[in-house]
Amino acid sequence: MERTLIILKPDAVKRGLEKDIVKRYEKAGLKQVARKELSASVALLRAHYSTHVDKPFYPNLEKFMASGTVVAMVFEGKDAVAAGRKVTGATKPADAEKGTVRGDFRDASLTGEDAITKNMVHASATKEEAEKEIKLWFGKL
Ligand code: CMP
Repeated sequence: MERTLIILKPDAVKRGLEKDIVKRYEKAGLKQVARKELSASVALLRAHYSTHVDKPFYPNLEKFMASGTVVAMVFEGKDAVAAGRKVTGATKPADAEKGTVRGDFRDASLTGEDAITKNMVHASATKEEAEKEIKLWFGKL
């Protein structure tokens, strides 16, 4: 069994997509084992996105992620990290395949960097990242 962290970003929360999105992960065989709604602090976001803080897109990403409620969720299952990434789809929603969260729920009115930033969900990329992120967002589970 493996766990992964999925975060619904402020755009997905505002659009009321939580139920539909959760269903996608459950259909892939994952079980939600933790959930919390919060306003992410700048300190939490900097720790979560530690590998991105120096990138040109980071200021906008931080502003967006702190702009509204986010929902952090832990899903558990076989190969949960890979399964979670598959359901989530490519980082850039315009490149995300049909049947993925980012592909199916993308806001086609967004363009450029804004469209990549507002990609609705974050999904852990590796098992190590998932463990680190779950600890950061939930403490000991
Ligand atoms: P996420 O999976 O949360 O991880 C890093 C986030 O940075 C990514 O999704 C996007 O929301 C955001 N981002 C904005 N611009 C870029 C970019 N050019 N490349 C990668 N990620 C970007």
